[in-house]
Amino acid sequence: MKAAQLVQFNGEKGVSISEIDKPGVPDDGMLVEVHEAGVNPFDWKIRDAGGMGATLPATLGGDFAGVVTEVGRNVAGFKPGDQVYGMAGFFNGGTGSFAEYDLIDPRTAALTPKSINETEAGALPLAGVMAVQALEEYFRLSEGQKILIQGGAGGIGSIAIQIANSRGAYVAVTCAGDEVDYVKELGADEAIDFRERRFEEVVHDCDAVYDLVGGDVYRRSFQALKPGGIIVSSLEEPDDELTQKHQVKAIYQHFEITAERLGRLAQLVDEGVVRVHVERTFLLDSADEAMTFLETIHPKGKVVIDVK
Ligand SMILES: NC(=O)c1ccc[n+]([C@@H]2O[C@H](COP(=O)([O-])OP(=O)(O)OC[C@H]3O[C@@H](n4cnc5c(N)ncnc54)[C@H](OP(=O)(O)O)[C@@H]3O)[C@@H](O)[C@H]2O)c1
Repeated sequence: MKAAQLVQFNGEKGVSISEIDKPGVPDDGMLVEVHEAGVNPFDWKIRDAGGMGATLPATLGGDFAGVVTEVGRNVAGFKPGDQVYGMAGFFNGGTGSFAEYDLIDPRTAALTPKSINETEAGALPLAGVMAVQALEEYFRLSEGQKILIQGGAGGIGSIAIQIANSRGAYVAVTCAGDEVDYVKELGADEAIDFRERRFEEVVHDCDAVYDLVGGDVYRRSFQALKPGGIIVSSLEEPDDELTQKHQVKAIYQHFEITAERLGRLAQLVDEGVVRVHVERTFLLDSADEAMTFLETIHPKGKVVIDVK
């Protein structure tokens, strides 16, 4: 089978399209014919700099949507022919989803939402589960509460906006100027062009901040919170000094893809709460180009590798 493999940590030149053996199926795993594989920032970050436990050669890719072809004898809840989506086992020493077949841990997969196509399903897992985890497990916003989403036009932010809006929260978002209309269509009440204005001058008294940018943006975000508020960052460990000074709670969010969260995400999609916008698709042979496109062009929607 064909796979996009990282053969050296050296940017684009480090990726090769290789012919490798189809994985065997252990008792606790299942084989999935990958049809679509979403691209996330971590894919190009690993390609360019390694890390996250990658050992060479490594088949890249996390997000997938496809069809189960074989299940191990201990696997319950899935059968050949099921349409599934989820996260490949790259981070647990397994292989990635930029391949024609992938060995999947059933604990990181679920049946795909019924109301969207496979390309959209392939774009959803990591970004969607991050947003579900943050909004439903950390923030738990109620009607009228206020959230600031830093980096709202990105993969995670665009879904977080929709969930926050559905809970009746007031949603402020930072994004680039040409993304203002896009985030408002998704449900943002207020959009701040981060290249034109400093958000802390206009956004105050938030119950929650979801930081998807990090660095200086993370540190300045504390000024937008009210005492008792909460900041969750996908990039920064809690800053104790700022947390105490502003009397807020801070959490670093590390992704944890579970069947339950994927199931909840599918429900939100099928209820019409969440939709995902796919900006562009690439063929598996162009996996490198897909990662570079995400890294350098910063598209508004998701990038997906059309494997099938
Ligand atoms: N901890 C974890 O487990 C975990 C899991 C998933 C993702 N992450 C990380 O979380 C981050 C967000 O993920 P994602 O998939 O949503 O990434 P993404 O699609 O690249 O979105 C990031 C967004 O932030 C915007 N941005 C950049 N600088 C900004 C600034 N100063 N102010 C406001 N917005 C700004 C970008 O706009 P432009 O495109 O215009 O630059 C982009 O729309 C990434 O760094 C990713 O690696 C961490």
